[in-house]
Amino acid sequence: MSDTEAGNGRRSSLHGFWSSKLAFILAVTGSAVGLGNIWKFPYVAGENGGGAFVLIYLLCVFAIGLPIMMSETLLGRRGRRNPVASMALLGEEEGRGSWWQVVGFSGVLAGFFILSFYSVIAGWVFAYVGKSVSGAFVGADAAIVKDVFGGIAGSWVATAGWHTVFMLVTVVVVARGVERGLEQAVTLMVPALIGILLVLLGYSAATGEFEMGVRFLFEPDWSKVSGTTVLAALGQAFFTLSIGMGCVMAYGAYLPQETSIPATATAVVCADTAVAILSGLVIFPIVFANGLDPMAGPGLIFEALPLSFGNMAGGVVFGTLFFLLVGFAALTSAISLMEPAVAWWVESRGATRARASITIGLIIWALGFLSVFSFNLLADYTFLNGTFMDNFDYLTSNIMLPLGGLLITVFCGWFMSENSVTDELNVGTGRLYRTWRFLTRYIAPVAVIFVFLNAVGWLDWLSAAAA
Ligand code: PFF
Repeated sequence: MSDTEAGNGRRSSLHGFWSSKLAFILAVTGSAVGLGNIWKFPYVAGENGGGAFVLIYLLCVFAIGLPIMMSETLLGRRGRRNPVASMALLGEEEGRGSWWQVVGFSGVLAGFFILSFYSVIAGWVFAYVGKSVSGAFVGADAAIVKDVFGGIAGSWVATAGWHTVFMLVTVVVVARGVERGLEQAVTLMVPALIGILLVLLGYSAATGEFEMGVRFLFEPDWSKVSGTTVLAALGQAFFTLSIGMGCVMAYGAYLPQETSIPATATAVVCADTAVAILSGLVIFPIVFANGLDPMAGPGLIFEALPLSFGNMAGGVVFGTLFFLLVGFAALTSAISLMEPAVAWWVESRGATRARASITIGLIIWALGFLSVFSFNLLADYTFLNGTFMDNFDYLTSNIMLPLGGLLITVFCGWFMSENSVTDELNVGTGRLYRTWRFLTRYIAPVAVIFVFLNAVGWLDWLSAAAA
């Protein structure tokens, strides 16, 4: 990043700028590609019956997620502050009041909740690097991989230990401000991840129930779709794209003025979707060939993938490399989860970055114990949507992020003057602009509200009342 302003007499960023358009794309791709694609997408698709869920998810990604990612970037770049301050500033500037900062606060809070469980899963990924190196999966069958997973998840000491390691690494990176170096590494990470997924795809195609896997992922069975399925697909779209919680806004604040927002957002969304779909194509053929349960939940990839690595040539090397890459992908996402809170803390309290990251990291680490215990000590303690972790996940993905996204899209589409919008987006007022504007004003907000009402059963109630 450089500290020079992009000119045009606009506000200058308090934290400098990305050195190039590519640096921004890499940072947002690093944020988007993570456990959401490799761990969460397959298991949520599995729990929701596959095909129909996947198609709705893709629709949500492109018709709702992409325009919202553009809006969020636009707001960040125009505000040039942390998400709380940016929204307060833009709200005032557009004559709508500073209360719009709730969008920023909700994002800061969502970041705390998400990272608290994200770190627990990422900890397992770290643990699996060690397991792969030691050859624990060589020749493994379904019983062995289940045993290994149960041994880690079932032990709160092991899970807490790895959660601690992951949070430590995250805080050190954020505190020392070495993210820029990591972003460059994303140039290697994403292609390498896709490369290994392609190798695994070859293995799944050769030895797994490939056709069954493909059918499961893409053949829609609409009878399995309910209001909650649609909400799960929408929530997954928000989670995987890192939108609706100010993370893209925080990164947008450092974006040079001349960079094209539609082009960068489209690149990120396509890369993210490719990784998710590939990982689904890798996992389900293995799941079906080995009699695993597609509804296995959060443990799904920790059982399915070691089966591939354990039984393929070069599996120790590929397995180790794979879990390393996924751990790294999780790290670049974790960093972005802390960014709204850290930037806000630094700007509003004048704290150093180091102090802010350590304090915030400690709070998240402590909160993470509720998710650690969700797999062992408190596994049977369920309420609302399941364990503590299930509830954090549901609350953030399915409620906070879509609600944040709704406010972002409504602000951009309805409350910002068209002059400000076109000035910031800087793509003229041609077809591209008009499509984005239509999606932002009508499709995205109406779809999010519709999905919410559908999930709580109000649509059924309304149609029954109307009949
Ligand atoms: N998008 C990340 C993933 O798919 O793993 C998770 C995430 C990061 C969610 C940042 C939300 C966020 F703001």
